[in-house]
Amino acid sequence: MKTTLTAVRVDLGAVGGHLQPSELLVSSVRASVEEKTDNLLIDCWVNFTGDDITILCTHENGIDSPKIREALWDAFEKGVATAGEQGLYGVGQDIRDTGMTWAAKGLGPALAEMSFAERPNEAFLIFSIDKALPGAFNLPFYLAFVDPMHCPGLILSPRMRQGFRLVIMDVLYKEYDREIELNAPEDIYNMAALLRDQNRYAIRRIESRSTDEQAVASSTTRMSNIAGKIMGKDDPVAIVRIQDAFPAAGEVVAPFQIGPYVGGFMRGCHHGPLMPVPLSTKVSYFDGPPIVSCAAFGLREGRLTPPVDVFEHPMWDHVRTRIADKAVEIRRQGFFGNAMQPFETIQYGGLVNILRDLDERFEIRRIRLTDSWTDS
Ligand code: F6R
Ligand code: MG
Ligand code: MG
Repeated sequence: MKTTLTAVRVDLGAVGGHLQPSELLVSSVRASVEEKTDNLLIDCWVNFTGDDITILCTHENGIDSPKIREALWDAFEKGVATAGEQGLYGVGQDIRDTGMTWAAKGLGPALAEMSFAERPNEAFLIFSIDKALPGAFNLPFYLAFVDPMHCPGLILSPRMRQGFRLVIMDVLYKEYDREIELNAPEDIYNMAALLRDQNRYAIRRIESRSTDEQAVASSTTRMSNIAGKIMGKDDPVAIVRIQDAFPAAGEVVAPFQIGPYVGGFMRGCHHGPLMPVPLSTKVSYFDGPPIVSCAAFGLREGRLTPPVDVFEHPMWDHVRTRIADKAVEIRRQGFFGNAMQPFETIQYGGLVNILRDLDERFEIRRIRLTDSWTDS
């Protein structure tokens, strides 16, 4: 029997703009998903991080199952009805203008799925990010799976000796899914050359080269560049299997202490440090900072253990204080330089319009030959 994990992040509306979903909204989605464990699903878990709800389902229908999508869609609709009744902000944000295929226009909920034969002691993590793009996982996952400075298992465990294969997606390629497979360690410079650009490239999958088993599935969705606006799915989710032939839980989560600057802070247009937070954490400061939560699970025949809240440990309080300083520091420079995303990835039309209007007011002044220093 193969178990499938389907993890989804969806924004159906929130309180205080885009800060957090209401308790009633989360519980109505949870109730609707739980109903489906009578037949279609084996188990489920529903929580929130920032203004998106994370849904994890276990089942035997494999990846890309229309039945599972329909069931989830039904839960989204129930949530939207509740959000509407409560007058939440941005009701149905991720399911409007889209359909059951979700990714058709680069919009829609973020989805990560993985199907595998369970190990006798299966263990995995669910990461949920708010206010950042799928490329926000690039650095921590690269360090956890490729770099022996961060993952000692690469030199200490014979099961990891052959390294890992990374599948990286070009999320700006419009027509189809464009991806490349690169092998660590021989391709690490090539990996770095792509993964440095979080707006264009995102890790989609990681596999063990020793066992060929899949370790990571991340919700990478193509972005659409419509009339100069990047439309796409931010706020990703990732499934990471751990231990044995994969890095240990601690090896995977340790690189998150860096709090790298990622794109997606305030209006999706600014850079902010990615702060590891406990489950059910809202955003606040400047609609952020970008946050990531991590739930650890055990699994037996599709049944989940209750989650362990990984970033709730006191060690991460120290990390959060340092990352809060990074957030305040970059905000001191407002709109200037690296505080904002490059023009090409700014999502809001306002800036595009200002620059288009100003473009007409620019004048080209040609240098007269007599003014030239070399023309004496
Ligand atoms: C960023 C985000 C928020 C909103 C901001 C403006 O991902 O969700 O920073 O962009 O609160 O929201 P609107 O345009 O809906 O008023
Ligand atoms: Mg939102
Ligand atoms: Mg969000």
